[in-house]
Amino acid sequence: MLAVAVLAAGKGTRMKSALPKVLQPLAGATLVERVLASARTLQPERRLLIVGHQAERVEEKLSPIGGLEFVLQQPQNGTGHAVQQLLPVLKGFEGELLVLNGDVPLLRPETIESLVNGHRNSGADVTLLTARLSDPTGYGRVFADETGQVSGIIEHRDCTEEQRRNTLTNAGIYCFNWQALEGVLPQLSTDNDQGELYLTDTVAMLPRAMHVEVADPDEVNGINNRRQLAQCEAVLQQRLREHWMAEGVTFVDPDSCTLSEDCRFGRDVVIEPQTHLRGSCRIGDNCRLGPGSLLENADLGDAVTVLHSVVREATVADDVSIGPFAHLRPAAEIGKGCRIGNFVEVKKSQIGAGSKVNHLSYIGDASLGDNVNVGAGTITANYDGVRKHRTVIGDGSKTGANSVLVAPLSLGKEVTVAAGSTITKDVSDGALAIGRSRQMNKEGWSRSSGD
Ligand code: UD1
Ligand code: CA
Repeated sequence: MLAVAVLAAGKGTRMKSALPKVLQPLAGATLVERVLASARTLQPERRLLIVGHQAERVEEKLSPIGGLEFVLQQPQNGTGHAVQQLLPVLKGFEGELLVLNGDVPLLRPETIESLVNGHRNSGADVTLLTARLSDPTGYGRVFADETGQVSGIIEHRDCTEEQRRNTLTNAGIYCFNWQALEGVLPQLSTDNDQGELYLTDTVAMLPRAMHVEVADPDEVNGINNRRQLAQCEAVLQQRLREHWMAEGVTFVDPDSCTLSEDCRFGRDVVIEPQTHLRGSCRIGDNCRLGPGSLLENADLGDAVTVLHSVVREATVADDVSIGPFAHLRPAAEIGKGCRIGNFVEVKKSQIGAGSKVNHLSYIGDASLGDNVNVGAGTITANYDGVRKHRTVIGDGSKTGANSVLVAPLSLGKEVTVAAGSTITKDVSDGALAIGRSRQMNKEGWSRSSGD
């Protein structure tokens, strides 16, 4: 039997944030969500979350995951005190307890799996994950012999100068034999610089303590401050880009682009510099994104180009060209082969296949048929100051430059709207609608006014 406990009760004082540390985001997911995900493949029988500082907020964020047992630690008197809270909860439990610090978000599932397997094979009381760090400042130092047997862990602030030279550091990831840990947990003392109960002190109390060193020290990066948060973001972004490059995505300037975990790409996608994808994006084959674009929860078909544009919560079919400088907002649905050009904003509207909105338009709460040509500067006036209204435009219709379509409004098929019109009444199929005053020329005007 395996139980996993994530330590997520701390305040994260060094972050200087109103947000509890474990809820800080990294490439679109919070630290604690990432830590939980790294243990998912183990399929533990029980998943426990130690919460304390802003416990309700952490619980609220995590409750959609389901199957979690929240255990309250109040006050937060150290990592050992946090695990002591499990004593009543895990009474009678037999098996391993995997303890994960909630602020160590880059662990690979394989690393945790091999820690647990190694622990089971060795029969140790505890096996912990270690790394050799070039700069171990702030981490606990692990004292071990060549066979991997650990004699103890000393926190950085409690170390002598001599002890600090030891670069073997504690990752904050431990696989305990629960029954062995249960016996020593009540014996912890606060005899240290912070006056807290340290989980790390249990290691010296257990007869058989072993460690396993990770191959990639980046995995055990802990986050205590914003500098470390930025470093982890960089590691994660690098991993994501390398993953997608291996899957057939080209990055012209990888370091200038960021992705979220939940992006999926087809083949031969080219991502130009300064392009960022957030949330859950689906990108088809042969798309070209950027330079200078932001996509969030965007769903793109094949062969779509997005140039210097923003696409948010919008759906785009195949062979569409977007930008430069377009803004697709939530519930924009762009049909196959459309062109959405310069300074065009589309919100909550369907645009049929082959339609063009090329210049300086606002299309909101509208439904456009196929092959509609929206002239430069056409605006759907969808808001009367109280309510939003819809505009419907039939297949093959054209609006002249600088048209204002005052909703609610319905234009039939093959309608033409004269340039400069303000249209307030419905127009039937095939008609020409003109909604502007006639031009009047006053001959000789400049001569008479000059006298
Ligand atoms: C801890 C380890 C250190 C290790 C490092 C790895 C201890 C004493 N030290 O130090 O050896 O090198 O992690 O990153 O364990 N937490 C609680 N309740 C508390 C205190 C903390 O749940 O009362 C949680 C925090 O939310 C955090 C985790 O435990 O997720 C680690 O706490 P933190 O204070 O960051 O420990 P470190 O000083 O980094
Ligand atoms: Ca920490």
